[in-house]
Amino acid sequence: MSLLTDKKILLGITGSIAAYKVADWVRALRREGCQVTVVMTEAACRFISPLTMAALSGNPVHTGMFSAEAPETIPHISLAKEHDLLLIAPASAQTIARLAHGLADNLLATIALASSGPILVCPAMNSVMFQHPATQANLAIIRSYGYQVIEPDCGKMACGDEGPGRLTEWENARQAILTAFAPQDLADEQVLITAGPTRESFDPVRFLSNPSTGKMGYALAATARQRGATVTLISGPTGLTAPPGVRCIHVTTAVEMQAQVMACLEATTIVVKAAAVSDYRPAEPQPHKVKKGEAALSLPLVANPDILKELGKRKRDSAKFPLLIGFAAESRDHLTEGARKLQEKNLDLIVVNDIGGTEETGFGADTNRVTLLDRNGAQEDVPLLSKEETAHRIWDAVARLIDG
Ligand code: C5P
Repeated sequence: MSLLTDKKILLGITGSIAAYKVADWVRALRREGCQVTVVMTEAACRFISPLTMAALSGNPVHTGMFSAEAPETIPHISLAKEHDLLLIAPASAQTIARLAHGLADNLLATIALASSGPILVCPAMNSVMFQHPATQANLAIIRSYGYQVIEPDCGKMACGDEGPGRLTEWENARQAILTAFAPQDLADEQVLITAGPTRESFDPVRFLSNPSTGKMGYALAATARQRGATVTLISGPTGLTAPPGVRCIHVTTAVEMQAQVMACLEATTIVVKAAAVSDYRPAEPQPHKVKKGEAALSLPLVANPDILKELGKRKRDSAKFPLLIGFAAESRDHLTEGARKLQEKNLDLIVVNDIGGTEETGFGADTNRVTLLDRNGAQEDVPLLSKEETAHRIWDAVARLIDG
């Protein structure tokens, strides 16, 4: 069950050309288990048809203050009460002005006034309108009411102008919605996460590496952010985009990763080493591409630093050291090996991954099945879940350790 399962989202659509984009957002929300009800302003109905939104949401669309079918109901009050979150996207300059000044002259603005739950606003308009002091002042006002404003993207607009004002991408809105529902139990934490593989070159075009895609580490970064943490992600080469609000430092080799981890340590309260660090690197990397037949058929290697083990050692000598969370990807005796590494590396928690199993777990998969072993001897078998949900289960265990 994800944070979005069975959540009731009220989506307010206003008069902006970006209205067509949120048709996809409705589908994405429903795929994640949300119930979506749509409210449209009069101008929004000129950009996209209520029929489209009704079909996609599976619910009637509300456009007017008064219901012809059920005149005895008061739609703005019942709609405001029956939902867990109000998402206004795209939010036009006009609607933002209405929200800022407490106007109640259409159904959406009235619902916003009557809502006591979280309100997320995704502005989308011409960049000159967006940058106008009036719009900026109105945004500052609605932020002061506690509304969460998701900044628009920069780029080319439908009108041909270029600048800030394009509706944010779905992934940013999704993260903001998840944040609204996530427990804020990591709000005081400075989290450092490593993710992905490292690459150890032996000439300019060849390297030693492993199939890690970084998905588990990135999911940990996104979910820590959702739970209120300040997050730094040190990532080896992956094809992934850093989650919104996460500082990302890119590295290639184990030695570079070690340098970055050590540089960030001072300001960190929790370290999670989810990276699949190469244990060895070529002893003599060649400055030029090695030609076929030119090299001996053996590759001398030297050991890379074990970053986590070094942190564990330092932890023994320090009264105040970040919590240490490691990973163990094992193809046999995974629990025995995990327990051994927990002790040997002096960790607070280890996430043990049986990679000898099915394609649903381990490298590259979107799902994972892990066992959590902590320093107090507790063991938790986490069932097969998405990597995002697995990450939340890991943070639940970390939050329990923090609580003592
Ligand atoms: O000993 P093993 O490599 O299996 O331990 C895995 C854990 O140690 C992971 O958390 C991984 O990120 C970390 N590690 C490390 N530096 C290495 C190798 C592994 O920090 N050189």
